[in-house]
Amino acid sequence: SIHSRITGTGSYLPPRRVSNADFAAELAQRGIETSDQWIVERTGIRARHFAAPDVASSDLATHAARHALEAAGVTADQIDLIIVATSTPDMIFPSTACLVQQKLGVHGCAAFDVQAVCSGFVYALTVADSMIKAGAARKALVIGAEVFSRILDFNDRTTCVLFGDGAGAVVLEASDRPGLLASELHADGRHVGILCTPGTVAGGQVLGDPLLKMDGQAVFKLAVGVLESVARSVLEKAGRTEADIDWLIPHQANIRIMQGTAKKLKLPLDKLVVTVDEHGNTSAASIPLALDHAVRGGRIRPGDTVMLEGVGGGFTWGAVLLDL
Ligand code: ACO
Repeated sequence: SIHSRITGTGSYLPPRRVSNADFAAELAQRGIETSDQWIVERTGIRARHFAAPDVASSDLATHAARHALEAAGVTADQIDLIIVATSTPDMIFPSTACLVQQKLGVHGCAAFDVQAVCSGFVYALTVADSMIKAGAARKALVIGAEVFSRILDFNDRTTCVLFGDGAGAVVLEASDRPGLLASELHADGRHVGILCTPGTVAGGQVLGDPLLKMDGQAVFKLAVGVLESVARSVLEKAGRTEADIDWLIPHQANIRIMQGTAKKLKLPLDKLVVTVDEHGNTSAASIPLALDHAVRGGRIRPGDTVMLEGVGGGFTWGAVLLDL
Protein backbone atom coordinates (compact mmCIF):
# COMPACT_ATOMS: atom_id res chain seq x y z
CA SER A 1 0.00 0.00 0.00
CA ILE A 2 1.05 3.61 -0.55
CA HIS A 3 2.27 5.72 2.37
CA SER A 4 3.11 9.42 2.55
CA ARG A 5 6.21 11.02 4.10
CA ILE A 6 7.47 14.54 4.67
CA THR A 7 10.73 14.80 2.71
CA GLY A 8 11.48 18.50 3.19
CA THR A 9 10.41 21.50 5.27
CA GLY A 10 10.74 25.24 4.70
CA SER A 11 9.52 28.50 6.15
CA TYR A 12 9.66 32.23 5.73
CA LEU A 13 9.10 35.23 7.99
CA PRO A 14 8.78 38.76 6.63
CA PRO A 15 11.85 40.74 7.79
CA ARG A 16 10.08 43.35 9.94
CA ARG A 17 10.28 42.05 13.54
CA VAL A 18 8.18 43.98 16.04
CA SER A 19 9.05 43.39 19.71
CA ASN A 20 6.42 43.83 22.41
CA ALA A 21 8.17 47.03 23.53
CA ASP A 22 8.13 48.47 19.99
CA PHE A 23 4.50 47.45 19.55
CA ALA A 24 3.45 48.92 22.91
CA ALA A 25 5.13 52.22 21.94
CA GLU A 26 3.31 52.22 18.57
CA LEU A 27 -0.04 51.47 20.19
CA ALA A 28 0.53 54.14 22.88
CA GLN A 29 0.55 56.75 20.10
CA ARG A 30 -3.03 55.69 19.32
CA GLY A 31 -4.00 55.88 22.99
CA ILE A 32 -3.95 52.07 23.46
CA GLU A 33 -2.18 50.89 26.60
CA THR A 34 -0.34 47.58 26.78
CA SER A 35 3.03 46.32 27.98
CA ASP A 36 5.70 43.73 27.31
CA GLN A 37 4.99 42.28 30.75
CA TRP A 38 1.24 41.80 30.17
CA ILE A 39 1.77 40.18 26.76
CA VAL A 40 4.57 37.83 27.94
CA GLU A 41 2.74 36.74 31.10
CA ARG A 42 -0.59 36.04 29.41
CA THR A 43 0.64 34.61 26.10
CA GLY A 44 4.40 33.89 26.02
CA ILE A 45 4.71 36.17 22.97
CA ARG A 46 7.78 38.45 22.87
CA ALA A 47 7.75 39.50 19.20
CA ARG A 48 5.96 38.96 15.88
CA HIS A 49 6.81 39.68 12.24
CA PHE A 50 4.64 41.91 10.06
CA ALA A 51 4.73 41.87 6.25
CA ALA A 52 5.17 45.08 4.27
CA PRO A 53 1.89 46.42 2.78
CA ASP A 54 2.72 45.18 -0.75
CA VAL A 55 3.53 41.61 0.40
CA ALA A 56 0.74 39.01 0.22
CA SER A 57 0.22 35.48 1.55
CA SER A 58 1.25 34.04 -1.83
CA ASP A 59 4.64 35.81 -1.57
CA LEU A 60 5.36 34.39 1.89
CA ALA A 61 4.06 30.98 0.74
CA THR A 62 6.31 30.95 -2.33
CA HIS A 63 9.45 31.67 -0.26
CA ALA A 64 8.55 28.89 2.20
CA ALA A 65 7.76 26.49 -0.65
CA ARG A 66 11.13 27.12 -2.35
CA HIS A 67 12.95 26.30 0.91
CA ALA A 68 10.92 23.09 1.37
CA LEU A 69 11.54 22.01 -2.25
CA GLU A 70 15.27 22.60 -1.82
CA ALA A 71 15.33 20.58 1.42
CA ALA A 72 13.47 17.72 -0.28
CA GLY A 73 15.65 17.81 -3.39
CA VAL A 74 12.53 18.15 -5.51
CA THR A 75 12.02 20.67 -8.32
CA ALA A 76 8.79 22.66 -8.65
CA ASP A 77 7.93 20.97 -11.95
CA GLN A 78 7.88 17.57 -10.19
CA ILE A 79 5.09 18.72 -7.84
CA ASP A 80 1.65 17.40 -8.81
CA LEU A 81 -0.43 18.97 -6.02
CA ILE A 82 -0.30 22.34 -4.21
CA ILE A 83 -2.51 22.97 -1.18
CA VAL A 84 -2.35 26.29 0.65
CA ALA A 85 -3.99 26.68 4.05
CA THR A 86 -4.84 30.34 4.62
CA SER A 87 -7.54 32.60 6.04
CA THR A 88 -5.90 35.67 4.52
CA PRO A 89 -5.84 34.84 0.79
CA ASP A 90 -4.53 37.44 -1.68
CA MET A 91 -7.87 37.52 -3.50
CA ILE A 92 -11.41 36.18 -3.22
CA PHE A 93 -10.39 34.12 -6.24
CA PRO A 94 -8.35 32.57 -7.76
CA SER A 95 -6.94 30.57 -4.87
CA THR A 96 -3.63 31.49 -3.25
CA ALA A 97 -2.41 28.03 -4.35
CA CYS A 98 -2.85 29.02 -8.02
CA LEU A 99 -0.90 32.23 -7.40
CA VAL A 100 1.88 30.23 -5.71
CA GLN A 101 1.97 27.81 -8.63
CA GLN A 102 2.43 30.74 -11.01
CA LYS A 103 5.13 32.33 -8.81
CA LEU A 104 6.99 28.98 -8.73
CA GLY A 105 7.01 29.12 -12.55
CA VAL A 106 5.12 25.87 -13.11
CA HIS A 107 1.67 24.99 -14.41
CA GLY A 108 -0.70 22.08 -14.81
CA CYS A 109 -0.76 20.46 -11.36
CA ALA A 110 -3.81 20.58 -9.08
CA ALA A 111 -3.85 23.63 -6.79
CA PHE A 112 -6.41 24.77 -4.23
CA ASP A 113 -6.80 26.44 -0.84
CA VAL A 114 -8.07 25.01 2.43
CA GLN A 115 -9.75 27.31 4.95
CA ALA A 116 -9.80 26.05 8.52
CA VAL A 117 -8.16 29.06 10.23
CA CYS A 118 -5.55 27.95 12.79
CA SER A 119 -6.30 24.27 12.05
CA GLY A 120 -5.67 24.90 8.34
CA PHE A 121 -2.29 23.18 8.14
CA VAL A 122 -3.41 19.91 9.77
CA TYR A 123 -6.48 19.98 7.51
CA ALA A 124 -4.33 20.55 4.39
CA LEU A 125 -1.79 17.89 5.38
CA THR A 126 -4.57 15.37 5.99
CA VAL A 127 -6.14 16.11 2.58
CA ALA A 128 -2.76 15.75 0.82
CA ASP A 129 -2.06 12.49 2.70
CA SER A 130 -5.46 11.11 1.67
CA MET A 131 -4.90 12.07 -1.98
CA ILE A 132 -1.45 10.44 -2.01
CA LYS A 133 -2.80 7.27 -0.38
CA ALA A 134 -5.64 7.22 -2.95
CA GLY A 135 -3.12 7.49 -5.82
CA ALA A 136 -4.32 10.97 -6.86
CA ALA A 137 -0.92 12.65 -6.22
CA ARG A 138 2.69 11.61 -5.61
CA LYS A 139 4.56 14.81 -4.69
CA ALA A 140 2.58 17.48 -2.86
CA LEU A 141 3.47 20.93 -1.57
CA VAL A 142 1.48 21.66 1.57
CA ILE A 143 1.75 25.25 2.75
CA GLY A 144 0.35 27.38 5.56
CA ALA A 145 0.62 31.13 4.85
CA GLU A 146 -0.93 34.16 6.51
CA VAL A 147 -0.84 37.95 6.68
CA PHE A 148 -3.04 38.24 9.78
CA SER A 149 -1.81 41.84 10.21
CA ARG A 150 -4.33 42.72 7.43
CA ILE A 151 -7.34 41.67 9.51
CA LEU A 152 -6.23 42.89 12.94
CA ASP A 153 -8.07 45.65 14.76
CA PHE A 154 -5.19 47.80 16.05
CA ASN A 155 -7.65 49.56 18.35
CA ASP A 156 -8.38 46.28 20.17
CA ARG A 157 -5.48 45.44 22.50
CA THR A 158 -7.07 42.13 23.49
CA THR A 159 -6.45 40.70 19.98
CA CYS A 160 -3.91 42.77 18.03
CA VAL A 161 -0.98 41.80 20.26
CA LEU A 162 -1.50 38.07 19.63
CA PHE A 163 -0.94 37.57 15.90
CA GLY A 164 1.82 37.74 13.28
CA ASP A 165 2.57 37.05 9.61
CA GLY A 166 4.57 34.18 8.07
CA ALA A 167 4.53 30.94 6.10
CA GLY A 168 5.68 27.34 6.44
CA ALA A 169 5.68 24.49 3.94
CA VAL A 170 6.41 20.79 3.58
CA VAL A 171 6.92 18.47 0.63
CA LEU A 172 4.82 15.34 1.18
CA GLU A 173 5.75 12.41 -1.07
CA ALA A 174 4.39 8.97 -1.82
CA SER A 175 6.59 6.37 -0.15
CA ASP A 176 6.70 2.66 0.57
CA ARG A 177 7.71 3.49 4.17
CA PRO A 178 5.14 4.92 6.59
CA GLY A 179 5.55 8.62 7.44
CA LEU A 180 2.13 10.00 8.31
CA LEU A 181 0.76 7.43 10.76
CA ALA A 182 -2.71 8.75 11.59
CA SER A 183 -4.74 11.92 11.56
CA GLU A 184 -8.14 13.19 12.60
CA LEU A 185 -10.11 16.37 11.86
CA HIS A 186 -13.07 17.98 13.62
CA ALA A 187 -15.28 21.06 13.49
CA ASP A 188 -18.11 22.43 15.63
CA GLY A 189 -19.96 25.26 13.89
CA ARG A 190 -21.94 26.03 17.03
CA HIS A 191 -18.94 28.13 18.10
CA VAL A 192 -18.66 30.31 14.96
CA GLY A 193 -18.99 33.48 17.03
CA ILE A 194 -16.12 33.06 19.49
CA LEU A 195 -13.41 33.59 16.86
CA CYS A 196 -14.32 35.14 13.52
CA THR A 197 -13.68 37.81 10.93
CA PRO A 198 -17.31 38.23 9.92
CA GLY A 199 -17.20 40.76 7.09
CA THR A 200 -17.48 40.02 3.39
CA VAL A 201 -17.45 41.85 0.07
CA ALA A 202 -20.57 42.39 -2.01
CA GLY A 203 -21.61 44.94 -4.59
CA GLY A 204 -18.07 46.32 -4.54
CA GLN A 205 -18.34 47.16 -0.83
CA VAL A 206 -17.15 45.62 2.42
CA LEU A 207 -20.23 44.33 4.22
CA GLY A 208 -20.01 43.82 7.97
CA ASP A 209 -16.85 43.96 10.05
CA PRO A 210 -13.72 42.73 8.24
CA LEU A 211 -11.55 42.66 11.39
CA LEU A 212 -10.81 39.74 13.71
CA LYS A 213 -13.05 39.26 16.77
CA MET A 214 -12.28 36.84 19.58
CA ASP A 215 -13.67 35.79 22.93
CA GLY A 216 -10.27 34.78 24.31
CA GLN A 217 -11.47 32.97 27.40
CA ALA A 218 -14.06 30.91 25.52
CA VAL A 219 -11.40 29.89 22.96
CA PHE A 220 -8.95 29.04 25.74
CA LYS A 221 -11.40 26.74 27.54
CA LEU A 222 -12.43 24.86 24.40
CA ALA A 223 -8.88 24.56 23.04
CA VAL A 224 -7.28 22.69 25.94
CA GLY A 225 -10.01 20.03 26.06
CA VAL A 226 -10.21 19.27 22.33
CA LEU A 227 -6.40 19.22 21.93
CA GLU A 228 -6.09 16.52 24.58
CA SER A 229 -8.89 14.33 23.22
CA VAL A 230 -7.85 14.52 19.56
CA ALA A 231 -4.23 13.70 20.43
CA ARG A 232 -5.32 10.61 22.39
CA SER A 233 -7.59 9.51 19.56
CA VAL A 234 -4.84 9.84 16.93
CA LEU A 235 -2.35 7.92 19.12
CA GLU A 236 -4.86 5.12 19.50
CA LYS A 237 -5.48 4.97 15.73
CA ALA A 238 -1.72 4.71 15.14
CA GLY A 239 -1.28 2.07 17.84
CA ARG A 240 1.10 4.34 19.76
CA THR A 241 1.17 5.89 23.22
CA GLU A 242 2.17 9.27 24.67
CA ALA A 243 5.60 7.79 25.46
CA ASP A 244 6.24 7.36 21.70
CA ILE A 245 5.98 11.13 21.05
CA ASP A 246 9.41 12.70 20.62
CA TRP A 247 8.05 16.18 19.80
CA LEU A 248 4.74 17.92 20.31
CA ILE A 249 4.03 20.81 17.91
CA PRO A 250 0.72 22.37 18.85
CA HIS A 251 -0.65 25.41 17.06
CA GLN A 252 1.39 28.31 18.44
CA ALA A 253 -1.33 30.56 19.89
CA ASN A 254 -0.55 30.87 23.55
CA ILE A 255 2.16 29.27 25.68
CA ARG A 256 -0.34 28.49 28.45
CA ILE A 257 -2.59 26.46 26.11
CA MET A 258 0.49 24.69 24.70
CA GLN A 259 1.95 23.81 28.11
CA GLY A 260 -1.50 22.78 29.37
CA THR A 261 -1.80 20.36 26.45
CA ALA A 262 1.68 18.90 27.06
CA LYS A 263 0.87 18.38 30.75
CA LYS A 264 -2.42 16.62 29.99
CA LEU A 265 -0.48 14.26 27.70
CA LYS A 266 2.12 13.81 30.47
CA LEU A 267 4.87 15.04 28.15
CA PRO A 268 7.92 16.79 29.63
CA LEU A 269 8.02 20.41 28.50
CA ASP A 270 11.33 19.89 26.69
CA LYS A 271 9.40 17.86 24.09
CA LEU A 272 7.25 20.90 23.31
CA VAL A 273 8.38 22.92 20.28
CA VAL A 274 7.86 26.62 21.03
CA THR A 275 8.09 29.42 18.48
CA VAL A 276 5.13 31.50 19.67
CA ASP A 277 7.62 33.65 21.62
CA GLU A 278 9.22 34.94 18.42
CA HIS A 279 6.40 34.48 15.85
CA GLY A 280 3.18 35.21 17.74
CA ASN A 281 0.13 33.37 16.45
CA THR A 282 0.54 33.00 12.66
CA SER A 283 -2.66 30.90 12.32
CA ALA A 284 -2.31 28.27 9.55
CA ALA A 285 1.42 29.03 9.24
CA SER A 286 2.31 28.40 12.88
CA ILE A 287 2.74 24.60 12.81
CA PRO A 288 4.88 24.31 9.64
CA LEU A 289 6.92 27.33 10.80
CA ALA A 290 7.60 25.62 14.14
CA LEU A 291 8.35 22.29 12.44
CA ASP A 292 10.84 23.87 10.05
CA HIS A 293 12.57 25.83 12.83
CA ALA A 294 12.96 22.67 14.92
CA VAL A 295 14.24 20.65 11.92
CA ARG A 296 16.73 23.32 10.80
CA GLY A 297 17.79 23.92 14.41
CA GLY A 298 18.77 20.22 14.57
CA ARG A 299 16.27 19.41 17.35
CA ILE A 300 13.88 17.26 15.28
CA ARG A 301 15.81 14.56 13.43
CA PRO A 302 14.94 11.96 10.79
CA GLY A 303 13.06 9.08 12.43
CA ASP A 304 11.58 11.20 15.24
CA THR A 305 7.87 10.83 16.00
CA VAL A 306 6.04 14.16 15.91
CA MET A 307 2.50 15.10 16.95
CA LEU A 308 1.07 18.15 15.15
CA GLU A 309 -2.06 19.71 16.64
CA GLY A 310 -4.22 22.51 15.26
CA VAL A 311 -7.12 24.40 16.82
CA GLY A 312 -8.89 27.57 15.81
CA GLY A 313 -11.84 29.42 14.35
CA GLY A 314 -14.81 27.47 13.15
CA PHE A 315 -14.45 26.02 15.75
CA THR A 316 -11.99 23.57 14.13
CA TRP A 317 -9.35 21.21 15.47
CA GLY A 318 -7.31 18.21 14.43
CA ALA A 319 -4.06 16.31 14.84
CA VAL A 320 -1.53 14.43 12.72
CA LEU A 321 0.98 11.89 14.07
CA LEU A 322 4.00 11.25 11.86
CA ASP A 323 7.43 9.70 11.73
CA LEU A 324 9.85 12.10 10.10
N1 ACO B 1 -2.48 44.70 27.33
C1 ACO B 1 -2.81 45.04 28.58
N2 ACO B 1 -3.99 44.68 29.14
C2 ACO B 1 -4.81 43.94 28.40
C3 ACO B 1 -4.50 43.56 27.08
C4 ACO B 1 -3.28 43.98 26.55
N3 ACO B 1 -2.88 43.67 25.31
N4 ACO B 1 -5.51 42.83 26.60
C5 ACO B 1 -6.43 42.72 27.56
N5 ACO B 1 -6.02 43.41 28.65
C6 ACO B 1 -6.70 43.56 29.92
C7 ACO B 1 -8.19 43.41 29.80
O1 ACO B 1 -8.80 44.62 29.41
C8 ACO B 1 -8.58 43.00 31.20
O2 ACO B 1 -8.64 44.15 31.99
P1 ACO B 1 -9.80 44.30 33.10
O3 ACO B 1 -9.56 43.15 34.06
O4 ACO B 1 -9.52 45.65 33.65
O5 ACO B 1 -11.07 44.19 32.34
C9 ACO B 1 -7.40 42.17 31.66
O6 ACO B 1 -6.32 42.50 30.79
C10 ACO B 1 -7.66 40.67 31.58
O7 ACO B 1 -8.24 40.35 30.29
P2 ACO B 1 -8.71 38.91 29.94
O8 ACO B 1 -9.27 38.90 28.58
O9 ACO B 1 -9.51 38.36 31.07
O10 ACO B 1 -7.28 38.18 29.94
P3 ACO B 1 -7.00 36.66 29.83
O11 ACO B 1 -6.19 36.24 30.98
O12 ACO B 1 -8.19 35.86 29.45
O13 ACO B 1 -6.00 36.65 28.59
C11 ACO B 1 -5.97 36.04 26.29
C12 ACO B 1 -6.47 37.03 27.31
C13 ACO B 1 -4.44 36.10 26.27
C14 ACO B 1 -6.52 36.42 24.93
C15 ACO B 1 -6.43 34.65 26.71
O14 ACO B 1 -7.79 34.63 26.94
C16 ACO B 1 -6.09 33.63 25.69
O15 ACO B 1 -4.95 33.36 25.43
N6 ACO B 1 -7.11 32.99 25.09
C17 ACO B 1 -6.88 31.98 24.12
C18 ACO B 1 -7.21 32.53 22.84
C19 ACO B 1 -6.09 32.46 21.88
O16 ACO B 1 -4.97 32.14 22.14
N7 ACO B 1 -6.48 32.77 20.70
C20 ACO B 1 -5.62 32.80 19.61
C21 ACO B 1 -6.42 32.51 18.41
S1 ACO B 1 -7.34 31.08 18.65
C22 ACO B 1 -6.42 29.89 18.31
O17 ACO B 1 -5.57 30.04 17.51
C23 ACO B 1 -6.67 28.71 19.10
